[in-house]
Amino acid sequence: MSKNILRHLAIIMDGNGRWAKRRGLIRTKGHEKGADIIRDITQYCAEHKTIETLTLYAFSTENWKRPKYEVDFLMRLLDRWLKQELPTYHRFGARFETIGDIEGFSPKLQETIASIKAQTAHHTNLIQILALNYGSRSEIAKAASRLAKRGEEITEKSLGEELTTPYQDIDLLIRTSGEQRLSNFLLWQLSYSEFYFTKTLWPDFTTEELEGIINQYIDRDRRFGGV
Ligand code: FPP
Repeated sequence: MSKNILRHLAIIMDGNGRWAKRRGLIRTKGHEKGADIIRDITQYCAEHKTIETLTLYAFSTENWKRPKYEVDFLMRLLDRWLKQELPTYHRFGARFETIGDIEGFSPKLQETIASIKAQTAHHTNLIQILALNYGSRSEIAKAASRLAKRGEEITEKSLGEELTTPYQDIDLLIRTSGEQRLSNFLLWQLSYSEFYFTKTLWPDFTTEELEGIINQYIDRDRRFGGV
C-alpha cells in the first residue's frame, strides 16, 4: 500500500484553560504557554519534507463569548506574539496568513496582522494560517452569497474556490485536550480529512507527539469513498 502524503495539517489547539487550572494558575497563563508551543510546531512543519500548509484555530467567532478580560488578553497576546515571532517566520522561511473576519479586530491589531503578512509574503517553506475570528458556516455562507451576487453558478468547484481559505483540502486534523468535535472549523475543507484526537492539552503538545501522529497518518488507508 502506498504511503499517504501530508501536505496540509490543521490543528484545533484546545486545553489552555485546563492546563492553567491544573497548575493553580489563571487561564491566561495557559494561553501564553500555548502561544509558545506554536513556534515549535511551526518549526517542525517548516522543516518537514512534505508539509506545505499549517492551519491553526486561534480564535473562533464564538470565542467573543468569553469574559472580557480574557478576550482582551488574547487580543493583546496576539499582537505582541506576532511582532515577537517575526524573526521566527524569517528563520523558518514561513509565510503568515489568516482566515476569518479580522475586520472585527482593533485597527492596531489589523495593522500588525497586515504588516507581518507583508513582511513574510516571500517565504516558501511553509504557509502558516491562523484562523482568527473564524467560523466555517459564515465562511461558506459568505462565499455562496458572493457567487450569487455575481450571478455565478454555485457548484462544488466554484464554491470551493470562493472560500477564503487558500483552497487546499486538509489531509490531517488534530484536536488536543480530548474533545472530539469540530467547533465550526473548516467544515468544507475537512470533508475527506483524517482526524486524530489526543488527550494532551495544547500547552503540553510536543513535536515528538506530532511526529508519532504523522507516522500513524502516513500508514492509514485513505479511500476517499472508493474501495
Ligand atoms: C483553547 O483553550 C485555546 C484557544 C482560545 C485558541 C488557541 C489560543 C492560543 C494557542 C493562544 C494564543 C494564540 C496566539 C496565536 C497568540 P481553552 O481556553 O478553550 O482551554 P479549555 O478548553 O481548557 O478552557
